[in-house]
Amino acid sequence: VQPIADVSPPKWHLAHTTWFFEEVILVPFNPSYTRFNEQYQLLFNSYYKTAGKHWLQSERGQLSRPTVQEIMAYREHVDEAVCNLLTAIGADSDFASLIELGLQHEQQHQELLLMDIKYIFGVNITLPTYSTIQLPSHSEPTNTWFTISPGKYNIGHNENSFCFDNEQPQHTTYLNGSSICKSLVSNGDYLKFIDAGGYTNPAYWLSDGWNWLESKRISHPLYWQKRDDTWWQFTLQGLHRLEENEPVCHVSYYEAHAFANWNGKRLPTEQELEIFLTAHQEGPHQNILHKGFHPTNCNDPCSQVWCWSSTSFSPYPGYTPYAGVLQEYNAKFMCNQYVLRGGCVATPQGHSRPTYRNFYNPHQRWMFSGIRLATDAIQ
Ligand SMILES: [Fe+2]
Repeated sequence: VQPIADVSPPKWHLAHTTWFFEEVILVPFNPSYTRFNEQYQLLFNSYYKTAGKHWLQSERGQLSRPTVQEIMAYREHVDEAVCNLLTAIGADSDFASLIELGLQHEQQHQELLLMDIKYIFGVNITLPTYSTIQLPSHSEPTNTWFTISPGKYNIGHNENSFCFDNEQPQHTTYLNGSSICKSLVSNGDYLKFIDAGGYTNPAYWLSDGWNWLESKRISHPLYWQKRDDTWWQFTLQGLHRLEENEPVCHVSYYEAHAFANWNGKRLPTEQELEIFLTAHQEGPHQNILHKGFHPTNCNDPCSQVWCWSSTSFSPYPGYTPYAGVLQEYNAKFMCNQYVLRGGCVATPQGHSRPTYRNFYNPHQRWMFSGIRLATDAIQ
């Protein structure tokens, strides 16, 4: 099922993450490897132009074949071939770092799977329930502020652990000083914006945002619906009454920007968010599918929703993209997208860190995106 171009069929994710191992690891490193099926190269390449032609993203839902069963056989075939190659090559560092990238890539798609399943269920009139896990009830936001003093800060990843190419190199940047709200914007806060006419007053909106709102007839966050004067929200746990203390989720950059404007505040830059997260992120992060997950784990103030920053996704000073076909992994998306930071309840364990740069187009909101406010004033 592919209800919109952004949302891929779940079985496509299973096949595409397998294609990545086949194309990036097996074909280049094992001259005697034969592809499981030559046609899969065309079907499950997402967008890597240097890896050859690929099926259109918007048409992934048209593929009734291969079946899920065939894709699971593809996964087994590739798993086995990768394990054999690992045994043969060993821990050669270039090879090992590609294996690690393949695993991290698959983790990114685990989160995409949850986002996509939620959307697919959300457009189904019967509103299926994906998970029965109980999420916590949230306490009232305290709305206290974290101060960032004026000065020089190191931004970017500089540890001896995995990161993507776009998180490097670490570099120094000057910040003028600001305050970041420790609480995420809640559903209750956002309802006040709606009730104050936030969606009917163009004064709060960017021009692109207002055009988007008018053309798509947007009047509330994705997955919200009003029934008999009561707001409800569709979740992976089914349809629930909107909980006012819960962080607002599934808003676009345009909505986040308009809300901040209405509030007399602004969105934080990605550097400010990184400094805030470094000071506050609790670990290890757990997501709702993690075995042993306890609802209190998602009370971590930093990893419930991805926070929009006001920063365009662009290269850090001295950035070097991955080589070869992987040059297309991040570098080519550094245009017209905004950075989000922090992780969310669908982010796999160990895949959330202060330097992680997520990025989306300003109109997109099917990811778990929320709002944290900032202000130039020292609170
Ligand atoms: Fe991918």
